[in-house]
Amino acid sequence: MRAYKGIRSLVKEIEATKRQGKTIGFVPTMGCLHDGHLSLIRKARRDADCVVVSIFVNPAQFGPNEDLKKYPRDIKRDLGLLRASGVDIVFAPGIKSLYPDKFSTYVDVGDLTSGLCGASRPGHFRGVATIVVKLFNIIKPGIAYFGQKDAQQAILIKKMVHDLNMDVKIKIMPIIREKDGLAMSSRNKYLSSQERKKALSLNRSLESAKDLYKKGERDSYKIIKKMQGMIPQNNGTKIDYIDVVDIEDLKSVKRISGKTLVALAVKVGKTRLIDNTILGG
Ligand code: PAF
Repeated sequence: MRAYKGIRSLVKEIEATKRQGKTIGFVPTMGCLHDGHLSLIRKARRDADCVVVSIFVNPAQFGPNEDLKKYPRDIKRDLGLLRASGVDIVFAPGIKSLYPDKFSTYVDVGDLTSGLCGASRPGHFRGVATIVVKLFNIIKPGIAYFGQKDAQQAILIKKMVHDLNMDVKIKIMPIIREKDGLAMSSRNKYLSSQERKKALSLNRSLESAKDLYKKGERDSYKIIKKMQGMIPQNNGTKIDYIDVVDIEDLKSVKRISGKTLVALAVKVGKTRLIDNTILGG
């Protein structure tokens, strides 16, 4: 495994890899790796000749009052996990490499970014889209892997790749959960044991949505109401949103007909958690 901080030497290796006709599978991450990330890497390992992973806590996707400074970082542990997973190349640049002074160009995917997490995290998806384009331009992957947990991110990256005629296939991989159902996230580290118990209500509410759907319920309002009732809104737990949206345009739907995303964000203590499930289709 080769680790790069600088862009120039990485690009040399990428170009040599491409000249050999090897396919590149790319997993972008912000580090603090967990099994969710490792499942993407395992898939990339199966699909591609050369697996590249980036570790970069991207300041452009954090709002002024968000957790950029305290976002968990553990590069030593991450490198060990990546080595053990058979990764070929790690790109872990410093901020100035990707955002040099006078950097001023951003990518805005438009409508898809206005609802769900975009509504409470203005500018977040502009930061995500911008860094993903930059990483794609540097690494030039044939395939890139994203997790379904960040459903809105995954959908808008697919849209961006389509709109900008980018030559990369996007694969969305299933949510990986802890044994008790909590969706894996680097931010789970922030939770106290009490908060972690409360956080289980996110997946439970999604399970109840699936259950209602299986029993024939198609009214989004009723599904949302049931989910709201399952998330105890006290002692510092607060629902940011629960929404039932079309899987392509992410607009709220009153009735579920086609493939539909049920997504939620809940603040448990100071930690904002997201989760989702897909119904229908
Ligand atoms: O999902 C993430 O970890 C980040 O949003 C990503 C895609 C690595 C961009 O910084």
